[in-house]
Amino acid sequence: MCKLIIFLTFKTIMISFHVLASSSRLVCYYNSLAEDRAAYGKVTISDIDPNQCTHLIYAFSDINNNELVNSTASSIDYQSFNRLKTRNPLLKTLLAVGGLTFNTQKFSTMVAEQQNRTTFIQSAITLLRGNGFDGLNLDWRYPGGAGSQPQDKQGFTLLCTELKEAFVAEGTASNRDRLIITASVSAERATIDASYEVAQIATQLDFINVLTFDFHGPWENVTGHHSPLYQGSKDTGNESYFNTDFAMRYWRDQGAPTQKLNLGLAAYGRAFDLSTNSSDVGAPANGPGEEGCYTGEEGFWSTYEVKLRAVPTHLIPDQKVPYATTENQWVGFDNKDSLDTKVSYLKTNNFGGAFVWSLDLDDTSGQFCKIGNNPFISHLHTLLVPAPPTTPTTTPPTTTPPTTTTTPPTTTTIAPPTTPTTTPPTTTPPTTPGSGNPCIGKFNGYYTNPANPKSFYQCDNGRAFIISCPAGLVFDPNCNCCNYQSK
Ligand SMILES: *[C@@H]1O[C@H](CO)[C@@H](O)[C@H](O)[C@H]1NC(C)=O
Ligand SMILES: *[C@@H]1O[C@H](CO)[C@@H](O)[C@H](O)[C@H]1NC(C)=O
Ligand SMILES: *[C@@H]1O[C@H](CO)[C@@H](O)[C@H](O)[C@H]1NC(C)=O
Ligand SMILES: *[C@@H]1O[C@H](CO)[C@@H](O)[C@H](O)[C@H]1NC(C)=O
Ligand SMILES: *[C@@H]1O[C@H](CO)[C@@H](O)[C@H](O)[C@H]1NC(C)=O
Repeated sequence: MCKLIIFLTFKTIMISFHVLASSSRLVCYYNSLAEDRAAYGKVTISDIDPNQCTHLIYAFSDINNNELVNSTASSIDYQSFNRLKTRNPLLKTLLAVGGLTFNTQKFSTMVAEQQNRTTFIQSAITLLRGNGFDGLNLDWRYPGGAGSQPQDKQGFTLLCTELKEAFVAEGTASNRDRLIITASVSAERATIDASYEVAQIATQLDFINVLTFDFHGPWENVTGHHSPLYQGSKDTGNESYFNTDFAMRYWRDQGAPTQKLNLGLAAYGRAFDLSTNSSDVGAPANGPGEEGCYTGEEGFWSTYEVKLRAVPTHLIPDQKVPYATTENQWVGFDNKDSLDTKVSYLKTNNFGGAFVWSLDLDDTSGQFCKIGNNPFISHLHTLLVPAPPTTPTTTPPTTTPPTTTTTPPTTTTIAPPTTPTTTPPTTTPPTTPGSGNPCIGKFNGYYTNPANPKSFYQCDNGRAFIISCPAGLVFDPNCNCCNYQSK
């Protein structure tokens, strides 16, 4: 029996680390204003599936007198939000501050002098820790945008730097995992140039959400997809920058590591009112399309509102995204096929993952589209996040397991999973090649970690992953598994 448990534990580790080594981030915003929508459009925290996204971001909090405070715009329930982690121990939760309609003067005042930044940082630690968040998401649109001060660009860098310092110190002092620092940033070249010292902030931030949507919209006089993957054949001059591919490469080329960059995906379309019979890309438009029945904003349709009204769908071949028309309405959005294309793009380019604005714009209840709950996000989950390690018998690892002297039991004798199999091992990110990398010159496989016998490392094509054994077990090179400590 004991041997059997060890084998299962070992299997679990194999699978988990295969999962973790190959998985991407799927970061999902929850807009708490969704609580105020009508009927099935209403999405409360209890409607959130905690097993779809790797990170959930609660939008939004506020700044008052330089302190991070609760927003007064909606009912706040951080406790329920953070309790979602009891149903998915790997889930991380972040609190966002800022957003599209935020008074950016508050950011400018806060970053303008050290004392103000310190006030903000200390209040952030108190609010995040006090409510069980794992980190912060800065959503200042934008440090160099309209209404900002020329010194805001440097101010933002200082804020990121001092946040990191303070979070590191707090994590060490409290002996807890350091709070995560993230930002959501512009995807427009001119704003990127004006707002960010890219390489410097990228060093401080744990990940960066690039807002690769809203490139076009009904504020313009011709139709255009708001979140194209590639440049359109008619895009010239500055228009050639208005696409996801350009923005992601620009962030990378300015010095942000690709693994820190998340590609932005919108669970909504931007709709135009057509002013002529023409319904192509670039057709004359007359302002925003009608309002969504549930979201109530002109020209802004959630995925399920697109589905509810727009029928014939056309692919924009050069930009690899669809639009749909219905009567005089034109809407550019993402569907299953364009999500496939975008995810394949981000994997090919080694970007760290994707983020979605926002999970409440998905068909959460499944009542609209009748193709299951959260069709948009669960499709992304399938593409980005491999199956969790809680069902090892149905998810075999694709890598060849190292040889072991343990004879695998047949399926009929496998006992129900025991505690260790439900506690996924933790991993640390791959070490930087060259910096004492223990995998240099080693074959792929598992090796003893001399620094900590309760863990081991895996070498994967020269990269080292340190993996912790489940509680109470140590790595045993004889079986290449986590085992009970020998007497
Ligand atoms: C902020 O909201 C949370 C509710 O989730 C509450 O516990 C906390 O006391 C609030 N903070 C303030 C300053 O009102
Ligand atoms: C710092 O914050 C205080 C309080 O909000 C504000 O009055 C002051 O102008 C800020 N400092 C700067 C340099 O903007
Ligand atoms: C193009 O963008 C640059 C900034 O990147 C700006 O200075 C210039 O005015 C823009 N040109 C047009 C035609 O909008
Ligand atoms: C365009 O719309 C006008 C009415 O506004 C109509 O008379 C005409 O037949 C339409 N043309 C086409 C090609 O559908
Ligand atoms: C749209 O506006 C631009 C100027 O901003 C103008 O040159 C162009 O002709 C307009 N297009 C239409 C279809 O009205």
